[in-house]
Amino acid sequence: MNIATKQLSRRSLILGSTASTAMLRHRSLAAYAGELQPPVREFSLKAAPGTAKIAPSPHPATAVWAYNGLVPGPEIRARQGDRVRVHVKNALTEETTVHWHGLRVPNSMDGVPHLTQTPIAANGSFSYEFDVPDAGTYWYHPHQRGFEQVGRGLYGPLIVEETNPIQVDRDVTWVFDDWRLLRNGQISDDFGNRHDESHNGRVGNTVTINGRILEEFPVYRGERIRLRLINAANARIFGLEFNGHNPQIVALDGQPISPHSPSDGRVVLGPAMRVDLVIDMMGNAGQRFTVTDTFYKSLEFRLLDLVYGAQSVRDLALGTPIELTSNTMLEPDLNAAKRHEIRFNGGMMGGMMMGDRQGDGMMSMMETMRAGNLWFINGIAATGHVMDPIIKLQEGRSYILVMQNDTAWHHPIHLHGHSFRVISRNGNPTRYHEWQDTVLMEPREAVEITFVADNPGDWMFHCHILEHMEAGMMGVIRVGNKATRT
Ligand code: C2O
Ligand code: CU
Repeated sequence: MNIATKQLSRRSLILGSTASTAMLRHRSLAAYAGELQPPVREFSLKAAPGTAKIAPSPHPATAVWAYNGLVPGPEIRARQGDRVRVHVKNALTEETTVHWHGLRVPNSMDGVPHLTQTPIAANGSFSYEFDVPDAGTYWYHPHQRGFEQVGRGLYGPLIVEETNPIQVDRDVTWVFDDWRLLRNGQISDDFGNRHDESHNGRVGNTVTINGRILEEFPVYRGERIRLRLINAANARIFGLEFNGHNPQIVALDGQPISPHSPSDGRVVLGPAMRVDLVIDMMGNAGQRFTVTDTFYKSLEFRLLDLVYGAQSVRDLALGTPIELTSNTMLEPDLNAAKRHEIRFNGGMMGGMMMGDRQGDGMMSMMETMRAGNLWFINGIAATGHVMDPIIKLQEGRSYILVMQNDTAWHHPIHLHGHSFRVISRNGNPTRYHEWQDTVLMEPREAVEITFVADNPGDWMFHCHILEHMEAGMMGVIRVGNKATRT
């Protein structure tokens, strides 16, 4: 898909978009009224080797692995309450699966190899089918050898529209990735090397938005843009500053939050995280504003420029509300919640591989690390997706996970099958008790999350730095009495 043409067609749609959204809403309401079954949206994804024009000419196209020949893969778009059916064909030379990141799907549709399904063999296929209970910004990616399959380009956006949307002029999705490209424009094939695994993962040298190096993004005075940011990078954390603008965060990981400006003016996205922004573009025709990424100290870079076109959409910003309607998660009962402690260990520390500083597990962890498993959850380094659960939760009960990052590194910690509220950081209550499915833990940070364990099955709980996950930072949380699959 070509970004430039996409923007051109969006541009011509700007003035008509409010009307067409209303029409769409009307049509889908009529569809709901006529039938009891939710509408089914059908999609096909074919995972296969292909090429993508990542670096601009004269660089050649880059050999990638892609869904339907596209990086990112095709957008899957549905409406809250719909049923989604996705036919996946595997044209890679290795097994794969597709995981619907952040969506609360039934366990058998979660796409975790061996744990929730037999992986899709080379030349095999599998059809996923599930309802989408929550609106928001999600994404899909393989869960088999993700550090290479995602790293080579297999990922795509999954957008669930609200039945009652907010008014915007454009709804834009930016899927971020970063690539480790060689001088010849090809992907460096050093996936899963021990240095990346023991440090901050595979951070690349080329950042793309929707599979391209995007230099400019055209905007118009007065337009209100909903910008859905998705971080599909293996390991890079983004910290975006929109100079001259005041973006409002309206959702995190798909889940609505009271609209607010990002703290310190910086929108932070760890791997797998999503942030929905509403931005009123109030610059003047001909002006340019730089969006910078300032996350890594002394590695700040200009991401792109917002460039104001000659026309304007309106002179004053829209006054309509931007708060989204909340989703359908059950509210955890904090008084009755049972607490579990989770500790994260491992990786390089002060130039040495470090095991558990607290003593007990130290010897066994050091031995495990010598064998190449570098990261631990409660003292265990995973060597595959099937393992004994680190904790067993009763279905329907509220829980608080008291998580401690004992390492020197950031970790975006993701739980499958549920969204959770982040209730404290280093003992301080969070301001918004935000719902997330992936929480970025800072080095040494303590974070408490809470949720109702309402989705039965064995669910992955892991770091989304894919090299950390591959080197052991992954566990299973069981909800309900038995494994859903034997
Ligand atoms: Cu986005 Cu277990 O994954
Ligand atoms: Cu990690």
